[in-house]
Amino acid sequence: MQQYGENPVSRQQVVSCVGERYLSGVVGCLRASEIKNYSVWGHLMRHLILIPILVISFGLFGRQSRAQFPNAHELPPEGWTGPVFELSQDYPTSLPSPEEYPWNDIDFKTEPGDYLDAVLGYVVAGNTAVDWRIQDNAVRKWYHAPWMHWGPRGREFIHGLTQERTSRPHELAPTQDSRFQNWAVGFYNALGGYTIGQVWNDPDNPDATNALFPVGTVTAKLLFTAATVDEVPFLENAFEWEANVKKNLSTSEREPRMMKLLQIDVAIRDSRADDTTGWVFGTFVYSNDHSGNNGFEKMRPVGLQWGNDPTATPASVAGTPLVETWLNPNVTLQHYGYAGRMNGPVDNPISSCLSCHATAQIPTSSPMTFPSSASETERLRWFRNVPAGEPFDTGAISTDYSLQIAFGILNQKQSKNADFAALANALEQAQVANNIAASSKRVLELEKNREQFDEPMIIDGQKYFPVSRGD
Ligand code: HEC
Repeated sequence: MQQYGENPVSRQQVVSCVGERYLSGVVGCLRASEIKNYSVWGHLMRHLILIPILVISFGLFGRQSRAQFPNAHELPPEGWTGPVFELSQDYPTSLPSPEEYPWNDIDFKTEPGDYLDAVLGYVVAGNTAVDWRIQDNAVRKWYHAPWMHWGPRGREFIHGLTQERTSRPHELAPTQDSRFQNWAVGFYNALGGYTIGQVWNDPDNPDATNALFPVGTVTAKLLFTAATVDEVPFLENAFEWEANVKKNLSTSEREPRMMKLLQIDVAIRDSRADDTTGWVFGTFVYSNDHSGNNGFEKMRPVGLQWGNDPTATPASVAGTPLVETWLNPNVTLQHYGYAGRMNGPVDNPISSCLSCHATAQIPTSSPMTFPSSASETERLRWFRNVPAGEPFDTGAISTDYSLQIAFGILNQKQSKNADFAALANALEQAQVANNIAASSKRVLELEKNREQFDEPMIIDGQKYFPVSRGD
């Protein structure tokens, strides 16, 4: 179990957490159980005038609590009786032994569909029985990355989903005329959990140099969409979760809604891919037309990639097929990635799984996708085969294809940034004056600006691009 050190939770977080009862704030939030005697404090929290007392008191009580990273962006509302997400953060402290993986004898280049099915079986095993409370899995434990709670896209409190790229009209189905929000939760097997624990061993000072995943690391992500069956008919009978997502696409306010499981992503650190990237990335898509008894059985492999076909351009693929991407001929998406490379239904068509994930580094000194002004040659910089553990940019520290480690670290840095501290103060003042409407408007303005960032931020004198996913 990680120990949170001396008073790791800033005053800013306490303030924003209180604000969360009224607003979908831009800053992080605390777990209710981290505040001792929460029922008493919960009562006090309703009286905003008492914030300063809470802030001071937390200094006394908070230090004794067990070391934990916050679970979610917001607290459950008063009287909530549904499920509440808890971060699986009991990271292994010594290197777990490698397992006998069911895909060890399957060649991902010649039997890609079988390889993916074996990986999906491993990911699902024991998890559906516990509704993906992955720390309770009786077959094997899985782990979440910390610091994904923070910010306007941060983990919602019901299932820990973070906001993903919004699907544009026709990206999911020809009959789709609306934009739909998508939310997802990612997790790692024990080897990945061990690595996360090494990076976040000192919760206040994460060490990206420890982000080197052992061979056998598996990470997966369940991706849910707000798309409707009216516009995307194949989503009928999909597996559903309630999640506290945005009320609509032009507000930061959240509300519990039913979301449908559309896509499952997997990434495997496999030494057989060492001559390209060291990683195999693949995805599955749901359709009611697929055979199977439930939303998980009706998932089919879309394809996988172990390399980026570094020279392929939209013009060149007409004559020369890709050799480091496999696409399942029995499943057709509305779009794939750039020049037909591997990508999932909700992913950005100008990218690919490995292309975007290769930018995982600290600082995040290149954007995840090529800028629209880039020439064809400049674009290919995003499709190099970056070996596992090597940074995208010279001088940066690789987080080995893990964007959750890179953006977790960035989120924590931003939370300590002066601009965001100023925001928290403004919120506090507005709330103390009980002027919720004014502070809500201010949050919206700030979130809008943040979402529209094309320019890098400068933090500690270094250039950081935010997670924008091209939204
Ligand atoms: C344009 C960028 C982009 C593309 C393309 C993309 N991802 Fe990701 N992915 C992200 C970001 C950002 C995160 C971390 C934030 C989150 O989980 O919400 C992430 C997280 C993940 C995770 C969780 C572990 C980790 O590495 O952080 C997995 C697994 C994953 N993606 C697999 C895939 C697969 C498979 C594909 C292709 C089908 C893909 N991704 C395409 C941006 C991308």
